[in-house]
Amino acid sequence: MDRIEDLRKRREKIEAGGGPKRVEKQHASGKMTARERITALLDPNSFVELDAFVEHRCTNFGMESMEAPGEGVVTGYGTIDNRLVYVYAQDFTVVGGSLGEMHAKKIWKVLDLAMEMGAPVIGLNDSGGARIQEAVDALAGYGGIFYRNTRASGVVPQISAIMGPCAGGAVYSPALTDFIFMVDKTSNMFITGPQVIKTVTGENVTAEKLGGAMTHNTTSGVAHFVYPTEAETLAAIRKLVGYLPLNNMETAPVVETSDSVNRICDALNSVMPESSNTPYDMKQVILSVVDDADFFEVQPYYAQNMITGFARIGGCSVGVLANQPKAMAGCLDINASDKAGRFISICDSFNIPLLTFVDVPGFLPGTSQEYGGIIRHGAKMLYAYSEATVPKITVVTRKAYGGSYLAMCSKDLGADMVFAWPTAEIAVMGPDGAANIIFKKEIDSAADPAAARKEKLDAYRAEFATPYQAAKRGYVDDVIEPCETRQKVAAALNMLASKRVSNPHKKHGNFPV
Ligand code: HXC
Repeated sequence: MDRIEDLRKRREKIEAGGGPKRVEKQHASGKMTARERITALLDPNSFVELDAFVEHRCTNFGMESMEAPGEGVVTGYGTIDNRLVYVYAQDFTVVGGSLGEMHAKKIWKVLDLAMEMGAPVIGLNDSGGARIQEAVDALAGYGGIFYRNTRASGVVPQISAIMGPCAGGAVYSPALTDFIFMVDKTSNMFITGPQVIKTVTGENVTAEKLGGAMTHNTTSGVAHFVYPTEAETLAAIRKLVGYLPLNNMETAPVVETSDSVNRICDALNSVMPESSNTPYDMKQVILSVVDDADFFEVQPYYAQNMITGFARIGGCSVGVLANQPKAMAGCLDINASDKAGRFISICDSFNIPLLTFVDVPGFLPGTSQEYGGIIRHGAKMLYAYSEATVPKITVVTRKAYGGSYLAMCSKDLGADMVFAWPTAEIAVMGPDGAANIIFKKEIDSAADPAAARKEKLDAYRAEFATPYQAAKRGYVDDVIEPCETRQKVAAALNMLASKRVSNPHKKHGNFPV
């Protein structure tokens, strides 16, 4: 039949994207095409394309005769591990993946469908940005995406992968989503590129240094993940989706495991160094406690004094936060607070219980922190933990001093269960700081100030640098042997599975930004 033949030809042309030369250029730069990416991301043969025949209707600058197969973006839905997801992948081989009115409307449609059906949206970004010929229609296209990203926030998980350029206001769609993945060396994000910077400020900077994957994963904290190749990036997105529910009305899928919840973590009884100022690797503690030693770290390169990531206990997803004594002694600073605040908020949005490991000496002192607004940044953690209604379990392994003790999900911020190891030190401040203040007069007036100081320090340490003052008041529910941590946390999660707590009715709170 002619019409069927005609349909096939039309579809073939659309599927060829920008044609063999541009596809070859795409491959030569280490990048897959939009369709190849979707194939790698989704379960085999699960992709259903929408709007393949959409065309632009721009007549500016000779655009009327310009063909743009698929309008420079492939959109549709499919499955990851048999669970529904929506996807769009910008096609750089077609007008540089630039976004015009109809390109945007294809993306709007998947965002609208995802909201109605309650399923995650994954955006694979590779675009020259607003299609210059389409002028304000292109800007309106972005505006409609931002609007939808915002409305979908906290309703369905939104994941962005940056797999090429992402410049100007275009960066704000990924920034409004929950997670940003970048591919090392082939992706970048910036508001103004190197040429504009050179013109305006005279500063010389390469695109990679300005907005490459490592810049955003180590320095700016804009991105959450970086992988060396596109294939690894797409595989990691699949893994992340497995920890998340499809929407905010569901819980994350339970994954069968042979790792018993009653497993005793023997190694943990000897993990703590003799001196409380000696660092140890908190990641080892996390790996011991979670199922199958499988921890999917989020933002592993940024603010390493705060560990965030997903794991499972008894097959159920948990969001893990922990101070890392190996990095800046695990203290809280601006970046760690931002990192933690956002992670807590994402977990709470998607009904993922929070498991917090505490070994925190305090907030980082100094003018750069104070001038940078540590007060409002630190407040984000307090706010996010207090607002979170998911089950919250806190394990104090060692230091938990002052405001930072509260900021790491203490009982008063709504922790449902607080466990402390016998090595926990829960107090207003550490022995040295306390001695300088409350014992100052006695030490100064002693015949032997050094001996008096030691005596006072020892007494303070024995009485206050322990979990028992907090346990006496019920701020700690139980003091446990480190080796029992997995068992105790698993039992608590089980007990808390039916937790139902809601915040007071309000339009929205004012998150301290
Ligand atoms: C129209 C575009 C385009 C754009 C690229 N192309 N960007 N067409 N609008 N924004 C076209 C090119 O003309 C070219 O067409 C093809 O895509 C491939 O682009 P190349 O330049 O050949 O590729 P490459 O050398 O790899 O360079 C990629 C690039 C560069 C770095 C992205 O194209 C570039 O700088 N583009 C402009 C980026 C930009 O300033 N965009 C606006 C950002 S502001 P042919 O036919 O030759 O193959 C923005 C505002 C959003 O997006 C605001 C939201 C509120």
